[in-house]
Amino acid sequence: MNPSKFAVKPVAPDRLPDLLRRMPKAELHMHIEGSLEPELIFAMARRNAVQFAFPDVDSLRRAYVFDSLQSFLDIYHQGTMVLKTEQDFYDMTHAYLKRAASDNVLHAEIFFDTQTHTAHGLDSGVVINGLHRACGNAQALFGMTASLILCFLRHLSEDEAFEALEQALPYRDRIVGIGLASSEMGHPPEKFAKVFARCRELGFRLVAHAGEEGPPAYIWSALDVLKVERIDHGVQAFKDAALMQRLAKDKIPLTVCPLSNLKLCVFKNLSDHNLGGMLDAGIVATVNSDDPAYFGGYINENFTQTFAALGLTAQHAYMLARNSFEASFMDASLRRNCIDRLNSVFESFH
Ligand code: ADE
Ligand code: ZN
Repeated sequence: MNPSKFAVKPVAPDRLPDLLRRMPKAELHMHIEGSLEPELIFAMARRNAVQFAFPDVDSLRRAYVFDSLQSFLDIYHQGTMVLKTEQDFYDMTHAYLKRAASDNVLHAEIFFDTQTHTAHGLDSGVVINGLHRACGNAQALFGMTASLILCFLRHLSEDEAFEALEQALPYRDRIVGIGLASSEMGHPPEKFAKVFARCRELGFRLVAHAGEEGPPAYIWSALDVLKVERIDHGVQAFKDAALMQRLAKDKIPLTVCPLSNLKLCVFKNLSDHNLGGMLDAGIVATVNSDDPAYFGGYINENFTQTFAALGLTAQHAYMLARNSFEASFMDASLRRNCIDRLNSVFESFH
């Protein structure tokens, strides 16, 4: 069904937050290490006897003030140092899934990377098995599904990405897709052309961060060189009218993360964000939390704050939730079921 065919009833602005919280949704852009809350970081540091750079939870939280992607990645990397065992990866993922389910997330596609952790001396299997076990329990514990997307770190070399791929291949059946994350500027997608071509041959679904801080040219090359199916962020596309037309015409989903963009100073104010303009231009945008423990909110907070700042409507809410299911890598019968549940919430909301 064409989303525009579903008749969305108008909803008063004061009732919209309730609808946004209750509507079923998928989350397609979140880094599991970015869901590590300071309390969990300190609990893991204690149990793994890791000396941590900050003395307590409050001092760590106070350090979450960023002026760019890199300033965030530096502190995010410190948080990852407490992860040592398969149980740590399980606990981190379990905590995220529980939180996501309370926001009515029916399906999550979770980014992780192995390169951070193998550099700390861990085996890729420790990471993947912990994450996979938590995802496997999501249906029984939280009534939702979850799958895993392995991201290569773009500040490292393509040879290192090939090495990470090799180490992950014994766990091929546990990974739905491949992504590209970390420091964007100076590391264009085409740096990873060969390894993405190999991943495509292996049947992985492909996504890449592009146009978070980087120029529209990075979005073009993610599409035309890496041949990705979704663009993570993509908000810089607004600077290139031909690219906007391409994204709309080819229905390339963008996984937009408004509170991340605000915290990392991609937009000065949330009211400057271009999410509404993207939707009005016919782009298949979705709303996501990116690194919720660092950016001041999980997915529902991204929805409610952005809708308040931009004056978006119930029609936009429906589009965004619908897009999240359409853009996901879930199988067709699950997608149908999620969309039916979305429609019934909108039909019965008064
Ligand atoms: N890794 C974690 N969060 C990220 C982001 N917002 N951009 C790029 N890489 C990331
Ligand atoms: Zn991201």
